[in-house]
Amino acid sequence: MTRTSLSNDSFNDSFNESASLLLSTPSYSDIQSIVADDFEIMDKQVFGSLNSKVQLVMSVSQHVINAGGKRMRPLITLLCARMFHDAPSQQAMHLAAITEMLHTATLVHDDVIDESGQRRGKPTANATWDNATAVLVGDYLIARAFNLLVSFQSLPLLQLFSDGTCDIAEGEVLQLQHQHNPAATEDDYLRIIDGKTSRLFMMATQGAAILQDQTQHLQALADFGQHFGNAFQIVDDVLDYSGDSEVMGKNLGDDLAEGKPTLPTIKALELLKDTDQNGYEQLRIAVQTGKTPNAEQLIELVRGSGSLDYCKLRALEETKLAQQALTTLPDNRYRQGLYQLTELASARLS
Ligand code: IPE
Ligand code: IPE
Ligand code: MG
Ligand code: MG
Repeated sequence: MTRTSLSNDSFNDSFNESASLLLSTPSYSDIQSIVADDFEIMDKQVFGSLNSKVQLVMSVSQHVINAGGKRMRPLITLLCARMFHDAPSQQAMHLAAITEMLHTATLVHDDVIDESGQRRGKPTANATWDNATAVLVGDYLIARAFNLLVSFQSLPLLQLFSDGTCDIAEGEVLQLQHQHNPAATEDDYLRIIDGKTSRLFMMATQGAAILQDQTQHLQALADFGQHFGNAFQIVDDVLDYSGDSEVMGKNLGDDLAEGKPTLPTIKALELLKDTDQNGYEQLRIAVQTGKTPNAEQLIELVRGSGSLDYCKLRALEETKLAQQALTTLPDNRYRQGLYQLTELASARLS
């Protein structure tokens, strides 16, 4: 059993539960097994790439990386690379490991901003050490990812990753700007998630095409990454209101407590405004102040508003757009794996 498969088990529990409802949907480990050998090497590289001479940097990075995670972005890179050229590619595995390193860095930073205490079923870096340590080690992980990227000697790859990393940071800042803003719109939300989440999905797909010299497919891969990323974040935001903290490995209900206007709240405010003036005011004030002494009641309000059904529809729309984008790409089992990954992600809301 690899180090990640332990925590993947809990992830698979949630995925497989949904998958059993959709008989044709394989489990996460089924999809992972399409590129099993590449995946195992990549996973080792994520650990092996940490080589700081500062012990604290090593301890903190290992803490988060050891905690597991699905390794979904590197899985996407590996599937894309094999879709274009079905042979083991050391470069693709290396790039996949780099995307995971960047992803981990964004999570370490995100947990500081969101004041989260649990990640991947373990105490977060900020909770185990402190905010300053977590921020600096997150910075180190980004710096190390770029350090490793240089070895490809590919300006297009560096361009993709440096543009993308700026967009991710901007997405997080935009989110901060909208914290406590009950007037945030769905468009504002889409701009935020486009940066903080979907951009890395795009880097994971487009990076593989650059490596494999398949730049004619860059647009289709951008569309796939963006829509899949959007669907994935909408699902995550719905699960913050309706999921199981044990299964997810992180605290839920945090978004409202932080006054974060995610799509479930944005839509609930819109729906309640016309149907329940009192509920609308309560929710609006909760977002504005981040004070939720009646958290359970507010969560019920969001659930009862019909907002989660709307979010589910939006996630399905984004999933369909991601799947459409795949149609112009080489038709093989790796493309099929990417398709199945999108099905599986949206099935979490079934
Ligand atoms: C969490 O991503 C952050 C979001 C974009 C919602 P994952 O759900 O892929 O987290 P890990 O890597 O499996 O822990
Ligand atoms: C996703 O946002 C975080 C990043 C993309 C960096 P969330 O704040 O919703 O992620 P979780 O729920 O903490 O994993
Ligand atoms: Mg968070
Ligand atoms: Mg979340």
